[in-house]
Amino acid sequence: MNKSLTLLGAMLAFLALTACEKTEQAILDEPTPPKQTQQQPSQNKINHKQIKAPSAAPRKTQPVSKSVFVPPKSVLMPKPTPLTIKRCMNLGNALEAPNEGDWGYTIRSRDLKNIRDAGFDTIRLPVRWDTHAQHRPPYQIDPNFMARVKTVSSGAKAYGLNVIIDVHHYESLMSNTAREEARFLAIWDQIARNFSSAPNSVFFEILNEPTLDISMEELNALYAKTVPIIRASNPTRKLILGGNSWNSIESLSLINFPKDANLVATFHDYGPHAFTHQGAEWSKPEMPLGRRWGGKADAAEFKDTYKLARAFTAKTGIPILVGEFGVIDKVPQSQRNAWVKMRRKAMEENGYAWCAWDYSGAFKAYDTKSETWLPGTLNALFGR
Ligand code: BGC
Repeated sequence: MNKSLTLLGAMLAFLALTACEKTEQAILDEPTPPKQTQQQPSQNKINHKQIKAPSAAPRKTQPVSKSVFVPPKSVLMPKPTPLTIKRCMNLGNALEAPNEGDWGYTIRSRDLKNIRDAGFDTIRLPVRWDTHAQHRPPYQIDPNFMARVKTVSSGAKAYGLNVIIDVHHYESLMSNTAREEARFLAIWDQIARNFSSAPNSVFFEILNEPTLDISMEELNALYAKTVPIIRASNPTRKLILGGNSWNSIESLSLINFPKDANLVATFHDYGPHAFTHQGAEWSKPEMPLGRRWGGKADAAEFKDTYKLARAFTAKTGIPILVGEFGVIDKVPQSQRNAWVKMRRKAMEENGYAWCAWDYSGAFKAYDTKSETWLPGTLNALFGR
């Protein structure tokens, strides 16, 4: 009797393990179409590299034992808590410029009001910390700069908006990770301590658009060191993590998420790059204007992007934020709107939070000269 029960148990365990392995295998074997290079920081400050496939992730197979069922890693992860962000606007071109205003835009409190009144619940605040921090220990962040970020953040809070604070354009970290690591960790320690008593409407995004200069192995190692540093002063704040290749969808499944219930996964959606970034002077080679969205290849790219995102969710259950998506303002407005609406609806249908790129700047949704939202923009972002 006991023997047959043990045998039955062993068979069930084997079947469960085989099923888990099959699912994992199917996901690992998904074809990952090569993506176009994401745009690098504006103002031509970055070397534009040829896209390479993201470095291969170590295969995560479970140890197979004949007698003991070892649950897959995802079962051992704490259950991810839900994400309160739904509809977000990037407030770029301000705090990631060398000095706020250098790129023609300074955040005003009326912008926060506009964003809130339009129906967004969150702003994403790209911040270039590394140009405002010392190069030697203790790598102190300029207190005036820290104060400015705090002011914008509490301004957003006053309008009932969540705030995502990121580390944007830390180029030397990508190109020289070993040299910059201590400085990066010290920067995060300071941000974390400064916002430790902020409400949970403040989110941290560890690193915007890691390029291909940093491998996934290096990036995962960096995440493994950064998360505990932030957790020391912010035990439950939501942390947003993306993969390399400019937060490509393909790199999402290569992130080793630390065991933590308050994590969010992010990718950026600018597909196809030749459409969304046409005429962008900072994209090398510059892509010609006049490219329209459509045809079989574009439809396949769209389908594949969200198929990969769904596979990630099925495997991990970690909530997804599409942290940037948009089309350059050199494209006719009606085409921009159509692309944004299509992508945004796909994000919502799949249950992802989204963050439009961008309020002001080359991908703008709002015109600060006429003080109006560009025609059709709000319908593209909120309409059915
Ligand atoms: C960069 C911007 C750029 C946008 C679109 C962002 O991550 O910071 O400079 O315009 O991506 O490529």
